[in-house]
Amino acid sequence: MPKAMIVDTGGGFEKVSVSERAAPAPGPGEIKVRVHGSSLNYHDYVVVCGVWGPAEPRIPMADGAGEVVAVGEGVSEFAPGDHVVSTFFPTWLDGTPQVENFASVPGDGIDGFAREEVTASVNAFTHAPKGWSHAEAATLTTAGLTAWRALFSDDRLKPGDTILVQGTGGVSIFALQFAKLAGATVIATSSSDEKLDRLKALGADHVINYRSDAAWGETARGLTGGRGVDHVVDVGGPSTLDQSLAAVRVAGHISVIGILSGVECNLQLVPALLKQVRLQGVLVGSRAQQIDMIRAIDRNGMRPVIDKVFALEELVAAFRHQESNKHFGKICLEF
Ligand SMILES: NC(=O)c1ccc[n+]([C@@H]2O[C@H](COP(=O)([O-])OP(=O)(O)OC[C@H]3O[C@@H](n4cnc5c(N)ncnc54)[C@H](OP(=O)(O)O)[C@@H]3O)[C@@H](O)[C@H]2O)c1
Repeated sequence: MPKAMIVDTGGGFEKVSVSERAAPAPGPGEIKVRVHGSSLNYHDYVVVCGVWGPAEPRIPMADGAGEVVAVGEGVSEFAPGDHVVSTFFPTWLDGTPQVENFASVPGDGIDGFAREEVTASVNAFTHAPKGWSHAEAATLTTAGLTAWRALFSDDRLKPGDTILVQGTGGVSIFALQFAKLAGATVIATSSSDEKLDRLKALGADHVINYRSDAAWGETARGLTGGRGVDHVVDVGGPSTLDQSLAAVRVAGHISVIGILSGVECNLQLVPALLKQVRLQGVLVGSRAQQIDMIRAIDRNGMRPVIDKVFALEELVAAFRHQESNKHFGKICLEF
């Protein structure tokens, strides 16, 4: 019987168990997938550990990748044997944002991908990048697409632009990689000097330790000759937004993505007004944006940065590793 991880109502690591769940044959417009990979995100963490636990028992994890084993009537986009990766919003196919909560998101409002088999609408998947492992492909659903959309859909990053990325988590490292593909200059921060060296090896043009340099936003602006960076990928929230405002150029763009330091802050409005910045809230992206991203990956030979891979049953151990903040890039499950 295919395995599935279940987190009980309300969440909490002690409420995670291994169960069995077979997926039905696909109906019209559906595909059945043997899931082989998933990857961890902060959002999955808050669901599983119980900060924003589920209202009913739930199969967690928004990210999933695997192989199509059967297709339902009328399906022409996929065939058995295809490698696929899940979409974060199976209901947001294209165009401007159409979602404002997680009701339709796998692993939160509906069952996710911590399971060996799933049957779902074709809209719940796209083709995976060619030649990527299932664990690699799974990194794209949440972290990859968030970075892609912030840089290329909400903004129009172009060669010669400078972007600032914060920390060495999944979103920030994808943003660094995509920005380098686009010919941009990247300033990257981390709390660890050892991780700063790894960021440089990945192509970061400048690095700053945000622990030892409290005014890292000013430092970043100095690195642009005083003009300011064109785009900031903000993942810290309350503890980073003021420095992001210090770093950004007049009429620059700040993607408000993360809440790693909390959900409430005293944003300094005067610098925001004087600089006439665009503060753009981001909630992952659409299926069409995911298809665009994967086309770019296929043409450029990029690979994701994976820190460590765990087995499906090691889900809690994988989240404990994420909690330690020792990771660099993505933590994955492979099964
Ligand atoms: N809005 C969206 O659509 C969306 C999508 C995906 C993720 N997110 C959010 O974006 C944030 C990052 O997600 P992720 O999956 O990339 O996380 P992650 O992989 O867990 O990355 C965490 C890393 O960020 C750095 N960090 C931790 N606390 C920080 C702080 N207070 N200030 C600055 N950097 C800090 C650390 O890097 P160093 O060890 O190098 O210092 C840490 O290793 C989370 O808040 C997540 O919920 C939002």
